[in-house]
Amino acid sequence: MAAGKGTRMKSRLPKVLQRLAHVPLVQHVLATAQQLQARSAVVITGHGAPQVEAALADKGGGLALSFVRQEPQLGTGHAVQQAVPVLGDDGVVVVLSGDVPLTQADTLQNLIALCAGQHLALLTIDLADPTGYGRVVRDGNAVQAIVEHKDANAAQRAINEIYSGIMAVPAALLKRWLARLDNNNAQGEYYLTDIVKFAAQDGVVVLAQKTTDALQVAGINSPVQLADLERSFQQRQALALMEAGVRLADPARLDVRGRLVCGMDVEIDVNCVFEGNVSLADGVVVGANCVLANCTIAAGAVIHPFTHIDGGAQGASVGEGALIGPFARLRPGAQLGAQVHIGNFVEVKNSTLADGAKANHLAYLGDATVGERVNFGAGSITANYDGANKHRTVIEADVHVGSNCVLVAPVTLGAGATVGGGSTITKDVPPGALSVARGKQTNLANYKRPVKAPKSLG
Ligand code: UD1
Ligand code: CA
Repeated sequence: MAAGKGTRMKSRLPKVLQRLAHVPLVQHVLATAQQLQARSAVVITGHGAPQVEAALADKGGGLALSFVRQEPQLGTGHAVQQAVPVLGDDGVVVVLSGDVPLTQADTLQNLIALCAGQHLALLTIDLADPTGYGRVVRDGNAVQAIVEHKDANAAQRAINEIYSGIMAVPAALLKRWLARLDNNNAQGEYYLTDIVKFAAQDGVVVLAQKTTDALQVAGINSPVQLADLERSFQQRQALALMEAGVRLADPARLDVRGRLVCGMDVEIDVNCVFEGNVSLADGVVVGANCVLANCTIAAGAVIHPFTHIDGGAQGASVGEGALIGPFARLRPGAQLGAQVHIGNFVEVKNSTLADGAKANHLAYLGDATVGERVNFGAGSITANYDGANKHRTVIEADVHVGSNCVLVAPVTLGAGATVGGGSTITKDVPPGALSVARGKQTNLANYKRPVKAPKSLG
């Protein structure tokens, strides 16, 4: 169910597209459905339907994805009614909410097992403050009904067990019960929860599985709740990393927005953000305030503070024992070998640096192939773009590029060549040669600097 408006978000973005860990809420739910190896997933859209459908269109993974629209939105029962034409008559339907992102697949597997293709299985939880939720009304242990807060009497409101919004139900029974819904209630809505009453009437067993993990059933209605859930989610990820041996300077100051895989003895300082797919091999150290996205960092590499790495779709890789930063920037296609040093204010894009190459200060390497042990001087750059096309710069092994050089691509510096500081190189340099391409120094003896005329006193 992803048709609701989410008024309290006070946002132009439909609620289910608000992001948790950089991923739209409803996409978390779809990812869980994928883990269940569901036959298909039906997304019920309404508010902002075109936007929601566009956002999810290619996010089905292996899952057969279909969309049905609910317009207008007349309640959760009405929402699920819209899905009836695309649901099979056999199998089990799991009803999920697009604004409840952190339900775990194993919890749902248990619910499906409880349903066993013949019962109605509800996921419930005890809340100290159940205000606003549907109460689970039992007769002894048997579930009789769910009564919505607004329809509940004082005795029912005193019940702490609430319905989470998640159920597993045989498709055939669901269809039969949906046809019987009405909107004679306090809100004038078609309540999905009324099917519990029908199950009881029809002698179908209703089972409630109570979870103690509030995070798994937490829904998002406001920016405050979204931020709360984000923190809880991050805390949980930090905990999992630490349990796997990762040393976090402060688990409260880590954000993983994607998948972070760590080897042994990885250390991560405060305020680091990981996005997309990131892997840190054994012994990697990440300094404070780094952002690492879509990259692979090999064993023993050190990422010094304030480094930004984003490999994008191409990826980026850092070799064993390399030293990166502080204040370094690695962009898509940066592939750095072992023991490479990239220092402060050095930008690397779509370039390969072989083992032991160094660019320690204030440099740009774009579309370059850099050989082993090359030393790329401070302030030097590859001029890879002529205004229309990008060209490659090839710097062979053991080249020494002085400071403040411009290498105008396409150009090749042969192995062992040396480029004098301040040179603008537009032609290939043969191996072993010294190339100097700058104005010759002229010294004028006894030069007199201009002097200011004395200020007049008038
Ligand atoms: C519902 C349950 C309530 C339960 C609570 C848990 C009903 C009648 N009540 O409450 O027992 O405790 O969830 O959070 O089901 N939606 C639609 N179309 C609609 C209405 C809602 O798609 O017409 C979607 C919303 O976008 C949301 C989900 O259904 O993802 C739940 O809707 P919400 O209004 O939050 O639930 P309630 O009806 O208040
Ligand atoms: Ca709700």
